[in-house]
Amino acid sequence: MCGIVGYLGKNEKKEILLDGLQELEYRGYDSAGIAVIENKQLKNFKAVGRLKNLRDKTKEYESKGFGVSIGHTRWATHGKPTELNAHPHMGAYSFVVHNGIIENYQELKKELQADGVKFLSQTDTETIVHLFEKNHNLNNNPWESFKKTISKLEGAYATLLITEADEETIYFAKNGSPMLIGFNDSDVYFASSDTPIIGKATEVYYLEDGEYGYAQNGKIHLFDKNGEKTFSKQALATDKAMAQKDGYRFFMEKEIYEQSTVMNDTMMGRLLDDRIEFEELDKDLFDNIVNIKICACGTSYHSALAASYLFERIAKTPCQVEIASEFRYKEPLLRDDTLFVTISQSGETADTLEALKMAKKAGLKSLSICNVDNSSIVRESDAAVLTRAGIEKGVASTKAFATQTMVLWMLAIYVAQAKETIDNELLSQELDAMRHTPKALLVADELHPKMTRLSKRYLHGHGFFFIGRDLFFPLALEGALKLKEISYLHAEGYPSGEMKHGPIALADAELFTVALMPKSLHYEKIKSNVEELCARDATVLAISPEPFDLADDFVKTTYDSHPMLEFFEMMVVTQLLALEISVRLGNDVDMPRNLAKSVTVE
Ligand code: F6R
Repeated sequence: MCGIVGYLGKNEKKEILLDGLQELEYRGYDSAGIAVIENKQLKNFKAVGRLKNLRDKTKEYESKGFGVSIGHTRWATHGKPTELNAHPHMGAYSFVVHNGIIENYQELKKELQADGVKFLSQTDTETIVHLFEKNHNLNNNPWESFKKTISKLEGAYATLLITEADEETIYFAKNGSPMLIGFNDSDVYFASSDTPIIGKATEVYYLEDGEYGYAQNGKIHLFDKNGEKTFSKQALATDKAMAQKDGYRFFMEKEIYEQSTVMNDTMMGRLLDDRIEFEELDKDLFDNIVNIKICACGTSYHSALAASYLFERIAKTPCQVEIASEFRYKEPLLRDDTLFVTISQSGETADTLEALKMAKKAGLKSLSICNVDNSSIVRESDAAVLTRAGIEKGVASTKAFATQTMVLWMLAIYVAQAKETIDNELLSQELDAMRHTPKALLVADELHPKMTRLSKRYLHGHGFFFIGRDLFFPLALEGALKLKEISYLHAEGYPSGEMKHGPIALADAELFTVALMPKSLHYEKIKSNVEELCARDATVLAISPEPFDLADDFVKTTYDSHPMLEFFEMMVVTQLLALEISVRLGNDVDMPRNLAKSVTVE
């Protein structure tokens, strides 16, 4: 998501930071900033928007001679993309940059405010620098103050801190968010991934969770809970393009693998021990709401369809879903007791945006679920929940879909809590299942090679049907869309119970059917639908935790007791199937023909 760069040494620091941040811009950007201390002088610059704006702002500034420096490019999660919310965050004499989410920041912030500290930003990060200075004002020892600060933080972080109280040192800590240290002679670099330091550092150490320390005189002092420790450096990669993809062949592949970790970000601060909370939503958002209407396009529409089952089943609230381009011209009848929800990865999709404007004009309250803060759809909506998937580069959406679906699932529980349609037992079962989701999204060691092997059997034929029931029908639609987009093979998603009403006429050995057969939802029903297809000689790839002898190919999943865990696990299988078929066909996985990442035209 956000990106961090740090440098300690005698070279021009501004250029090192800006070049490094440029390399991280592909991860997302809405603002950026740098802070430098040299000759005991602290300098700080921030700018909203692309990095170019920060470059323009720092044109006159040069930073030669020994010094310490930190920089950050931001993708908003807490607080709008403004200069005040951009990192580095400032105390009275120190600066901090941070990736991740400090879960207990509100508690820490309240304590600091009670001591008279004034906060400038809406971010969780700012608490780190104030807490550090509070400790330092008490003990006058920067290192002890930093240690004490880190010990109070809960959540995920990778953080760098510089201070005029110790102007030749960079303090660092990592827990749950990536951070590495690069070395070249006495120069020390920090970064949230390889790319900013390739070509500059020659060796690298990848910090482990729970490690922290400081860089001083070209040396690293590294600690963990057992005290100071030694570490070994390794040679740094030299291929930037490869490093951007974190070693994966394609951005789409990287994003499939990332789903498990980004899901933690999506849930952080929202999934609490005993309930779901959205601090970004006004408590009265659902007051007087008796109906939910969701409008979206493509993959986002599929997450909306899945959500409609959850809103009705768990929150007992009627929910209709509409394709935005259809909604716009159907002269819809809108009532003001309806909450109008839009879902969009980019926040710029023209059809969805126009649908939202229509609903607003009709006086409906609006909520957007989006991956890009400050996008047109977020700005246009009364309220917004960010999916926190990080920038998605692959044109075929993967992690955006997963995180949208999670936000919608959490929202269904949130509404159910407000409307008291969920009892404590069901609530705790749902929350427990959510906690297992990151695990369900992990790509099991044997799964990817299996999908690579299976894919060679599915390169021809006269089409694919992805079939499922209930929640697994939208997933079938999404599986088919993924395959279509990157393989250019014809694929359709269908409710499995509907096959006998027409499409089964297509069944023969050259019709490939991908059957989503969850154990926890209508297993017997879907099984009999798939048996009907097997009887007509269709070629069936079954995905299920339950062995199914009639299948030509079978992928065994592990979760079998909660539909949403089965949903997420099967989603990964369908994504990998599409990916591997596309690779075998020699297509451009990340930039399929005729498609664009953001569809800003009608
Ligand atoms: C498919 C895909 C598209 C988008 C659709 C809407 O992989 O990405 O179908 O889902 O164009 O885009 P957003 O979500 O940005 O509104």
